[in-house]
Amino acid sequence: MRALARLAAATLMVAAPLAAVTLAPTANAAEDPAPITVVTSDFEDGTVQGWTGRSAETLAVSTAVAHSGTGSLEVTGRTASWQGPSLDVLGVFEKGTAYTISAWVRMASGSDNARLSVERRTGGVAAYDQVVGNTAVTADGWVNLTGRYTVATDVDLLRIYIETSSGTGSFHLDDVSAGYVPALPNQTGIPSVRDVVTEFPVGAAITGAEIVTEHGQLLDKHFNSVTPGNALKWDATEPSENTFTYAQADPLMAWAKAHGKAVRGHTLVWHNQTPSWVFTGADGQPMTATAEDKELLLARLENHIRNVAGHYGADIGVWDVVNEVIDENEVDGLRRSTWYTVAGLDYIRTAFRVAREVVPDAKLYINDYNTNVPAKRDKLYSLVAQLRAEGVPIDGVGHQMHINVNWPSVAETEAMIQKFVPLGVEQQITEMDVSIYTSNSETFPAPPADRLLKQAYVYRDMLALFRRYASEITSVTLWGLADDNTWLDTFPVTRKDAPLLFDTRLQAKSAYWGVVDPSKIDPSPSPSVSSSSASPSPSQSSGTAGCAVTYRVTGSWPGGFQGDVKVTNTGPAPIAGWSLTWQYTGGQKIAQLWNGALTQNGAAVTVTNASWNGTLAPGGSASFGFLGSWTGANPAPAVFTLNGSACAVP
Ligand code: XIL
Repeated sequence: MRALARLAAATLMVAAPLAAVTLAPTANAAEDPAPITVVTSDFEDGTVQGWTGRSAETLAVSTAVAHSGTGSLEVTGRTASWQGPSLDVLGVFEKGTAYTISAWVRMASGSDNARLSVERRTGGVAAYDQVVGNTAVTADGWVNLTGRYTVATDVDLLRIYIETSSGTGSFHLDDVSAGYVPALPNQTGIPSVRDVVTEFPVGAAITGAEIVTEHGQLLDKHFNSVTPGNALKWDATEPSENTFTYAQADPLMAWAKAHGKAVRGHTLVWHNQTPSWVFTGADGQPMTATAEDKELLLARLENHIRNVAGHYGADIGVWDVVNEVIDENEVDGLRRSTWYTVAGLDYIRTAFRVAREVVPDAKLYINDYNTNVPAKRDKLYSLVAQLRAEGVPIDGVGHQMHINVNWPSVAETEAMIQKFVPLGVEQQITEMDVSIYTSNSETFPAPPADRLLKQAYVYRDMLALFRRYASEITSVTLWGLADDNTWLDTFPVTRKDAPLLFDTRLQAKSAYWGVVDPSKIDPSPSPSVSSSSASPSPSQSSGTAGCAVTYRVTGSWPGGFQGDVKVTNTGPAPIAGWSLTWQYTGGQKIAQLWNGALTQNGAAVTVTNASWNGTLAPGGSASFGFLGSWTGANPAPAVFTLNGSACAVP
């Protein structure tokens, strides 16, 4: 990638913040090869190892403190918070490759917030990307900054650097590394999602990283619609008043055009990712509910929409005109954003009216999350009904569908779609992803097989539902291309998630097969009943009671372990509802269990079936998984009892 300056405009790249203090594990860690390291700076040889100050600050090797060994790099004499040590990685970082960058930072004294950033230039135009955001650092210990970064365009300057958020205090840097896991070739022999799901366009949210090299090929093969995930938001398009920039969105739009993809425009009005100047009155104070502030806010809104929607015209066929305006906890159902508190419902009316005027052929959407939740769905319904009755040009309702492997049910999702049918609006699924986590407190070192399988069933069932409602649903978009770049890595907490159809190395997951050909989903371990013809009953010599149990520890670490259990009906009659018991002999304690219901009293464990896996045909089986704790030893139980009868343990 050396010194290429082919692109005239500054273009985008992607910084996907991954983890602040600790490194979130990567998905499929078990199968990933070791990363290839391209940068290591340990400052053990007494030199600054190529690091330079960004300005006139001083860099020197120090032995006062070190993260490892005896040396670190100390930066002193800073006169601005953006000053700090930087390393040239031009010719080291290849375009399209996702690098994990890690650095250890410690203040010399006092405290501040440290950031890991990248400066890049194309044709002399500079851009600054944040890889790891503000992370508290003190002089008391070392703090790790780890994040992932993909160079998505040709550049003629590329430097990684450390800065602070406010002060100019001296700090130490040590053990900087950057590496990548080599890409695997795309699977070209598998069906394209867009050739299988033909009822409506299937889209993916994209950043600059999704349109280059293997990512671009994967995106092109499987999807026929794209949504810029951030590039069209207010902070990206009008960072300061009446200064419009399309540097982030233009390359994505050009890619879409060149590859014949539809584009969903996301989003013209939102309470997030909107610069603070928008809500600052002429007097420099935060806007309040005055006539003057309302007039100014609506004028800014109108100007924004005229420019941004006008800039792309017919190239964007659908706009999320307003995003997330509902709060079901308010009696009137309206989110108390500054938009609302200053302008009331008029901000929504103005937004749709202006959008219709500027792009008369575009479909105009109101978009929100949790629209499957009845209270929220109903408030959204009432608002859309009211505004449409007034003549506000709302064409469609967007359901984000940020869901997880346990929630919501297909029935609830169907009710969500049905609710809006009488309104005569279009509906789209706009931001679907299926988290492997079912609570904020879970973190897995690698996605458990059970969760990936459940996820495959969720994708299978939800896509089947949407396709059945093809007369209502006019597109389905996933919020990302592959698990290597998902917003769920940092939302709602920092941990590696795996919510999409392709894994971190762009290979098709079971979730992909759930959409494309459910018969190919790996049936083991299964959260649902596998049929007798698919899995012949195991032939075992012992245990004639009519059941067999396999208990496996699938992962183990100090103090914790993960297991799965498979129960098979080896008798001649179906089993309707089951309860499996065993005794632990090593003091193990199950903390969490899925695909079944748990009771544990001391050593005695009882697991009963979940609602969907209670019936076991002859030869059929059900599996469940769990996380537990152990100390000393973790022996497998020897005896299992199903509905009161001992089972074979093959
Ligand atoms: C997310 C982006 O994917 C992230 O990169 C960004 O940091 C935050 O916003 N609902 C929406 C989207 O409507 O705009 C959000 O996108 C995800 C939730």
